[in-house]
Amino acid sequence: MKKLEEYVRCIPDFPEEGVMFRDVTSVLQDADGLHLAIDTMQELVKDLDFDIVVGPESRGFIFGTPIAYNNHKPFVLIRKKGKLPCETVSMEYELEYGTAVIEIHKDAIMPGQKILIVDDLIATGGTTEAMIRLVESLGGEVVGVVVLMELAGLKGREKLKGYRLESAICYE
Ligand code: PRP
Ligand code: HPA
Repeated sequence: MKKLEEYVRCIPDFPEEGVMFRDVTSVLQDADGLHLAIDTMQELVKDLDFDIVVGPESRGFIFGTPIAYNNHKPFVLIRKKGKLPCETVSMEYELEYGTAVIEIHKDAIMPGQKILIVDDLIATGGTTEAMIRLVESLGGEVVGVVVLMELAGLKGREKLKGYRLESAICYE
């Protein structure tokens, strides 16, 4: 049986020179890879008590929904600006170049609810940090963050001091 990291295709110099891109599509395109990815992430959060899974557009949806389904919990979408139809709260965050805005429906989280954040990857941690701020602005309590891949060299973990971050694969 192949190990999870063996399903991740690595592409040098994408999207720009010097970057080693860790490609999630090669995991998803393989039935065993997909099973192993979800099962490994599930195992990492099995002791966590949470009410809601939250995940960001677009790759966060892929992993967040099966984790929510497995645990019989709801899934709440965080989307890029202008996509959600009802009343939202927004958060601006830093990208490598410039800024972006993500949003969540205001009625999606009630004060005191325990939130598990799921995404495919943590790089700089900017997206995760912005998601935590959004959840907390609605009174939610972030009890954990789980990702398939952590690019440790980009030091995203340092932005999340005090929060539990689990990664199925960690690249140094
Ligand atoms: C990617 C990835 C994470 C985020 C990680 O999403 O899916 O959400 O970047 O980077 P960070 O830790 O530096 O913030 P992206 O915004 O590219 O959107 P996509 O999933 O729609 O491609
Ligand atoms: N893979 C996928 N998404 C990313 C990466 C990567 O290596 N770096 C930043 N976003």
